[in-house]
Amino acid sequence: MKYGYFDAEHKEYVITRPDTPAPWANYLGSPEYGAIISGNAGGYSFVKSGANGRIIRYRFNSVMNDQPGRYIYIKDRENGDYWSASWQPVGKDLDKYRTECHHGTAYSRFVSEYDGIESDTLYYVPLNKTYEVWKTKVTNKSDKPRKLSLTGYVEFTNSGNYEQDSVNLQYTLFVSKTYFRNNMILQAINENIKGHAGPDDSDEEGRGIWRFFGLAGSEAAAYDGDRDTFVGKYRDYSNPRSIENGCSNTLNFNTNSCGALQADIELAPGESKELVYLLGAYAEKGAKEIMAHYQDLSVVDSELEELKTFWHAKLNRFQVQTPDDNLNHMVNTWNAYQCFITFIWSRAASFQYCGLRNGLGYRDTVQDIQGIMHLDPELARERLTLMLSAQVNNGGGLPLVKFDHRPGFEKTPDDPEYGAETGHPAYRADDALWLFPTLIRYVKESGNWAYIDEVIPYANKEEGTVYDHLKRAIQFSLDRMGAHNMPAGLHADWNDCLRLGAKGESTFVAFQLYMAYNVFIEIAERKGNKEDVAWAEKLREELSRTLQENAWEDDQFIRGFTEENEVIGSRTNVDANIWLEPQTWSVLSGAARPEQAKLALDKVYEKLNTKYGAMVCYPPINRDGHPVLLMSLFNPTTKENGGIFSQPQGWLVLAETMIGNGNRAFEYYKEINPASMNEDADVRAIEPYVHGQFIEAVDSPFYGRGHVHWLTGTASTVMVSLAEGIMGVQPEFDGLRIDPCVPDNWTEFSMVREFRGKNLNVQVKNPNGVQKGIASIVLNGTPIEGKLIPEQLLKAENDVVITMG
Ligand code: NOJ
Repeated sequence: MKYGYFDAEHKEYVITRPDTPAPWANYLGSPEYGAIISGNAGGYSFVKSGANGRIIRYRFNSVMNDQPGRYIYIKDRENGDYWSASWQPVGKDLDKYRTECHHGTAYSRFVSEYDGIESDTLYYVPLNKTYEVWKTKVTNKSDKPRKLSLTGYVEFTNSGNYEQDSVNLQYTLFVSKTYFRNNMILQAINENIKGHAGPDDSDEEGRGIWRFFGLAGSEAAAYDGDRDTFVGKYRDYSNPRSIENGCSNTLNFNTNSCGALQADIELAPGESKELVYLLGAYAEKGAKEIMAHYQDLSVVDSELEELKTFWHAKLNRFQVQTPDDNLNHMVNTWNAYQCFITFIWSRAASFQYCGLRNGLGYRDTVQDIQGIMHLDPELARERLTLMLSAQVNNGGGLPLVKFDHRPGFEKTPDDPEYGAETGHPAYRADDALWLFPTLIRYVKESGNWAYIDEVIPYANKEEGTVYDHLKRAIQFSLDRMGAHNMPAGLHADWNDCLRLGAKGESTFVAFQLYMAYNVFIEIAERKGNKEDVAWAEKLREELSRTLQENAWEDDQFIRGFTEENEVIGSRTNVDANIWLEPQTWSVLSGAARPEQAKLALDKVYEKLNTKYGAMVCYPPINRDGHPVLLMSLFNPTTKENGGIFSQPQGWLVLAETMIGNGNRAFEYYKEINPASMNEDADVRAIEPYVHGQFIEAVDSPFYGRGHVHWLTGTASTVMVSLAEGIMGVQPEFDGLRIDPCVPDNWTEFSMVREFRGKNLNVQVKNPNGVQKGIASIVLNGTPIEGKLIPEQLLKAENDVVITMG
């Protein structure tokens, strides 16, 4: 079943059937104010933190799925019939109710029609603002005058803290109340207490925490500020009492706050009326200023344009035109936009991440940076600097970097307080090693070589240059080696469910370390630090020998050793006898010899591939409570227990391109491309325009179903595999290499790419149907030698013609 389509021109996904198999969401806002909205206007908003700044409520995992949300009810006052501007919550018969939801870049728009009334409703957070706008335009398309009531509705939380609001009802119910003033519902929490968070949400005397929900464009004919009065006894959002009977001007005292503002309008045939609802965490003074800004409703059009210009300019730094539309949709809009959303909100706020993770996971964030590198290298640098400042002076990364991180003053996993506060009691083996691929990508993208010498504090104490940070990251691994001279897996490596401990070893981390040596050597050579080059080269040689002697088994790499010397991922094991991560990383790191690379990747294809991507290991683990293989707690072929874990799929695609297998790389990509499932959306369930954390694999009765939408490292790994692997755009210190690896039936394709402020229009011709290889490069009409386009030859605008062969 198909529920919508990609509109490439407007960079939108348009949902044409609202009864999607799961809530299909979009993200609005910025790090300062976030809003999640589904194709039925379900979702929630928060100021800065999904954990502590929640201002509107969402009931996760509820039977009454995907509620509440940002609702606009429309009622015909003459016949009493009512519906909503989004299909839900009223849920009219879809034979009579026509609707489209346009999810765009930082806005969502619902165009619906019922009984001769069209509503066109836009939701967005204006650029650099910390409130949200819901604008609706209602048009009478019937041939008779109509009397309508429009009621905007929102359910407030009683505490910004998600957990408190959900469970500590004996307290939170008794601190919240509402007022109606100046066409707004104002909600006050702890109104008598001074000294709460920020100036915006306290009143002028610093009292209380305030939210507002206001109406511009019409006087409110009636209102409600009390949720239970609005909904009514034994009713729900599909049939609220205050919609059937009209709002009753009841305010909250000691139960749940809401904002409901009813506008009564009359429309002649063909006539339209526009209203704007505004929502945010402001006390009366700030709210009134915001309301004043929307007295002229046309401001909405300019704000929407500004938002689109902002986002499209970022995404347009890299656009592709290939024979595969589904790939184009993802590279040009959705994968790229998802990379930014993941970058901004990490794993903190979605319909599955309910907001408990109040910080940035080290490995997640350092990888997320790679996804936006080609689109906004300066934003990438800021975050990279933060992550370097969250490296402990022993070289390891803080597993969780708190949103209020204070470089130089943080406790570490060596201090019991850190574990108690963050729930992360120990180091992970991989965290700081992610800095190497991310850092080198930043320097090569930006050309900012001086960054290597920038001085950045460590998380707990001391400071050092970026170069010094890299060296200490290597040292962290060297200080924690196991019996085979491979890095210990510690509390986890990339795989959260593999607890190898202080002496058990991880081949995955060994490959990461191998890559770290490569990057470090490249940088040290360029700096002319001969001693460091020699140091790292010797270590790399030793590691290579170790891996060859201990980690290679005929045609695959093992996953590691337990502290008892049990081999994980041995081809002779009963369960999990082949794992995806070491096979792919053996290639990405350059540690696999060419014949090993081919054998290992062929083995993946043979043993792990499915029609929806490659499983992370197989067969799934079925050993009760195994102390190392924690994934056994998940159902078979689910999540880390042999599921099609999505993040490594990007590694797999990239690895295949590195050995020149364009056909297979593209085959894998098609398997996991969400857009490939657009026609079969019931199988995948989650959005066909974003990646999720994993897909259920072969042993599941729901094989092919996706889970944990939006916030996943998959966005960045897959983006890197598309940009650098398939499209082949690889920044180097001195220029740009474009070396695509594509299916052999792609005879022609093109792309535009911004690189260090210069624009490149690239045409690629593939007359002989090869998968990889460059026969010639012509830059602005002149053939160039070699495969690298030197930076100094680039003009402001450039035409590049590449012939593969
Ligand atoms: C999700 C976590 O966010 C990520 O850090 C981890 O690498 C994967 N799970 C795999 O376990």
